[in-house]
Amino acid sequence: MTKRALITGITGQDGSYLAEFLLEQGYEVHGIVRRIAIEDPAHRLWRILAIKDRLHLHAASLESLPSIYRVFQAVKPDECYHLAAQSFVSYSFEDEFSTLNANINGTHYVLAALKDCAPACRFYFAASSEMFGKVAEVPQRETTRFHPRSAYGISKVAGFDLTRNYREAYGIQASCGILYNHESPRRGFEFVTRKITSHAARIKLGLIRELKLGNLEARRDWGHAREYVRAMWMMLQQPLAEDYVIATGEQHTVREFAEVAFSCVGLDYRNYVTIDPQLLRPAEVETLLGDASKAKRELGWTSKISFKELVAEMVEADMKHFAAGNEK
Ligand code: GDD
Repeated sequence: MTKRALITGITGQDGSYLAEFLLEQGYEVHGIVRRIAIEDPAHRLWRILAIKDRLHLHAASLESLPSIYRVFQAVKPDECYHLAAQSFVSYSFEDEFSTLNANINGTHYVLAALKDCAPACRFYFAASSEMFGKVAEVPQRETTRFHPRSAYGISKVAGFDLTRNYREAYGIQASCGILYNHESPRRGFEFVTRKITSHAARIKLGLIRELKLGNLEARRDWGHAREYVRAMWMMLQQPLAEDYVIATGEQHTVREFAEVAFSCVGLDYRNYVTIDPQLLRPAEVETLLGDASKAKRELGWTSKISFKELVAEMVEADMKHFAAGNEK
């Protein structure tokens, strides 16, 4: 029997990689998209354009419970990957209310629809290392206490609690992946990695002259999104639902990321990077480092792509992208 998967956030970085992976595994893949995305595919569906004809896309909104119900009733999925969210931490400081409303209600609606329309469906929630925020220990593991530092982080803790509650109260087979930062050439330009690689490429091509950044000393555990979506799927293949940290176990500063990215195009970042105090966050997550030994032990998952390979792949893709005359 062909398995049916439903992905929220299918047009995003993770959604697009996951959709490709599930198609390869022989799944029938359904995705929830906004109507506007269907009307403007070139701009909004670029990450899934190559596979669009093999997907089943449903116009619905995470802000509307009836529309989510309708999709669950029509699809009756075997597995649901809930990835959709307002995922940019900085923006969550500018508009706390819409981040909290969209992320918390969105997760609640998906869980409620799943429980009523497809209770046997396995559920994956995209939790985040941002939940650890002001970290209580280094490295962080599944048992580390949460201390979120932004509305985004708070919304992810609420989503985590909702997911656990649906597991405990209603027996839904629901898992949370506590994913650390994961990047790729499909990353949005607002996130620091893609901001750096796209600027390094454009500076090299003579299109711009400088890169303004905020906190260069922030430390992150950066992995490759293509490897991380595989972990999502592995979680849902387990006989019992559990939560897992997914991370590389290696940490670098934003400064190091810039250093490596600029060196990929033969430049010294110190000649181009300036600090813009406006890019500093009101409450910063200074350091994140994950211990993914539970995922290794129980899922057999580890990250294999190195930091340098990740940065090089992103810079190379951006060199091609901007050399071809593309805009951001
Ligand atoms: N975006 C951005 N822009 N970040 C900057 C900049 C800048 O100009 N300068 C320094 N930074 C620092 C931020 O302050 C932060 O400490 C770090 O770079 C990473 O920022 P982002 O790339 O925006 O990612 P994030 O760590 O806040 O959040 C990402 O990872 C989470 C998992 O830990 C997002 O993908 C979240 O959705 C995800 O949950």
